[in-house]
Amino acid sequence: MSAPNNTYDPVRVAALAPAEVDRMTREAVEAIAAAGTLDELRAASLAHLGRHAPLTLAGAEIGALPPQARAEAGRRIGAAKQRVAQAQAARQAELEAERDARVLVDEVADVTLPWDRQPAGARHPVMTLADRLADVFIGMGYEIAEGPEVEAEWFNFDALNFPPDHPARETQDSFFVAGPHGRRSGMVLRTHTSPVQIRAMLSRPLPLYVVSPGRCFRSDTLDATHSPVFHQMEALAVDEGLTMADLRGAISAFVEALFGPGLRTRLRPDFFPFTEPSADVSMECHVCRGASALPGGAPCRVCKSQGWVEIAGCGMVNPRVLRACGIDPGRYSGFAFGLGIERSLMIRSGLADIRDTIEGDVRFSRAFGVEE
Ligand code: PHE
Repeated sequence: MSAPNNTYDPVRVAALAPAEVDRMTREAVEAIAAAGTLDELRAASLAHLGRHAPLTLAGAEIGALPPQARAEAGRRIGAAKQRVAQAQAARQAELEAERDARVLVDEVADVTLPWDRQPAGARHPVMTLADRLADVFIGMGYEIAEGPEVEAEWFNFDALNFPPDHPARETQDSFFVAGPHGRRSGMVLRTHTSPVQIRAMLSRPLPLYVVSPGRCFRSDTLDATHSPVFHQMEALAVDEGLTMADLRGAISAFVEALFGPGLRTRLRPDFFPFTEPSADVSMECHVCRGASALPGGAPCRVCKSQGWVEIAGCGMVNPRVLRACGIDPGRYSGFAFGLGIERSLMIRSGLADIRDTIEGDVRFSRAFGVEE
């Protein structure tokens, strides 16, 4: 027996009509199936199963039905929600499987790849050449001598016979180290490797044969042929009876070791306070071999068509320098020469710009090969 349905509002409860529930269910299932990512699926689930989803709101209307209609409506909504939830679970499983498959591909590790490959650096060609030059002299019985880069002015100048106020000090474009109250400290960034001559003569027994490669500093502006930081190598021999012939022989040996046999060397008078007589050293250009031009007549870039290239300064150690180091010039004589390593590299390898040697670009170094 059923009571007349006079409290039943058909408008409010239209949401519970079977056709309407079917439509909401279809919409929900379609939205879930259309979700292409887990985020989209989360949004679709919220819209169709959440607190404000149409089916949820319809379920809240059940109380408005006459009691005998509520159970059926409840089953209808329950079954609908279950279908939607199943669709959601199925899509969730699909999307998760897709994601897992993608991660496996994206993050695949090829365990057969070599794991210990590190790009090999290259020694800087300036260092390689410095070592090679030193080796030439070690082969002739010389020892390596070293000195500090921040040097006492006394070693850099005074002991080398630069007079105190002589412009020669300034011609070396020195970086003087400031002392307290802006006064000079008596220290200078060494402007050449010649102070190592003094250190060697003061500390080593005679006879003395040393080479000293090292870094030097002058306040030159960086350009294609000048660098404020550069390297020199100094050779010094002090022994009984050494003459300029010995100096010449040492220079020829060095040129031959570096550039190969058959190139003549030339000494021309020059001036250094610490050598007397002094000379600049040139060698026949190793590219045009003194011909000033290349086969075919093109100008030679390395010697600027001079046929000769200047490679070093040299001379017989000034007796005043020997005396400053406590060596008797009546018994001993010495010779010395000094050369710029960057300059030698530029000549030897035909480089036009010294800046290539200081920029630290490994492609430059690598072009010289990796040497141990
Ligand atoms: N020290 C000199 C320079 O830097 C070069 C040199 C070394 C000259 C040894 C003579 C002897 O210019």
